[in-house]
Amino acid sequence: MFNDLPDVLKQPVDSSDGVAGMERPRKLLDSIAEDVTPLLSLARHHIVSARQFTREQIIQLVRLAAAYETSRLYIKPLSGKILITAFYEPSTRTRLSFESAWHRLGGDVMSITDANTTGIAKGESLQDVAEMFSNYGDVVVLRDSEDESVYKMTERLRIPIVNAGNGIDEHPTQALADMYALLKWKPELCCTPEGAERIRIGIIGAPSRMRTLRSFLLCLTHFSEQIEVIVINPDKDVLAADQAAELQRSGLQISVVSALQSVLPTLDVVYINSIAWVGESYERLTGDIKLGSESRLKPDAIILHPLARGVELDTSLDITAHNWYFAQARGAVFIRMALLTCITQRVSRVTDAPIAPVR
Ligand code: CP
Repeated sequence: MFNDLPDVLKQPVDSSDGVAGMERPRKLLDSIAEDVTPLLSLARHHIVSARQFTREQIIQLVRLAAAYETSRLYIKPLSGKILITAFYEPSTRTRLSFESAWHRLGGDVMSITDANTTGIAKGESLQDVAEMFSNYGDVVVLRDSEDESVYKMTERLRIPIVNAGNGIDEHPTQALADMYALLKWKPELCCTPEGAERIRIGIIGAPSRMRTLRSFLLCLTHFSEQIEVIVINPDKDVLAADQAAELQRSGLQISVVSALQSVLPTLDVVYINSIAWVGESYERLTGDIKLGSESRLKPDAIILHPLARGVELDTSLDITAHNWYFAQARGAVFIRMALLTCITQRVSRVTDAPIAPVR
């Protein structure tokens, strides 16, 4: 059937980055002074909500992620440690990037990808499962379609748990990956002098019922003096009342508009997310909420998307300089390495460790 070999098979695989935003995060690393103090307070903590992160922690986490991305550690700080990933809902990026992060730090991984292969199928309580996790691993990463599950597990766990998405509530480590991409693109946000023009961040989606947006907005509140957020959605109630009140209390400049096309040319960052949970199923954005290479974007605007994408983000954008969503997904490994290093109390080991630059 394949008598003529395709050209792609006649040469070695090209590992050069070649996609916008993939450049080494040296600029970010150089623009932040190291201060491990904010990171030390993450040791042995559950990570359930983006509310738990301070501005200083976010900045030092992205710095450590940039250090990981630009270097290769000679030591493996998690050697002998075991990560349990329990994903009771589908995932490509979150589970694999957590597992990649843990492996790169030298640890071992045990994975549950289907709740029906565990005692949960026989009616075992989450609290009892948590008791077993405490015996078998050192950190748990949980994705569950119920908002409460991760909180129920914290009642019994004796090891830290990381929320990898709980229903429509939160996805705090996705928000860290989003912040890592944003701050690599604009390191000045970590230390913008007063009077600098605000960066306009358009958020396409429904933060009231999209967990990635809920957590991302909470992280953005720490940068409220340097940014302005415009939520774009033709539907009503895209921000829940308590959510809007919390964001406004933080000082974040946030507004909601219904039409994409009029606001799009004014945005510096476009964050688009297509999926909202409704009951037990997904709802996707429709209407004029679509981006493609023909969209009227600012020439230097970047696009972020937590992925998986649907028709709202056309593949014609993949080869453009607007595409920062692939860099965002790649960076998820390094920011999760940074977070896991902190949770497992290994920060001092890696900050003093000999490193080699990535070739
Ligand atoms: N961004 C994200 O959560 O992707 P997955 O659903 O593939 O983990």
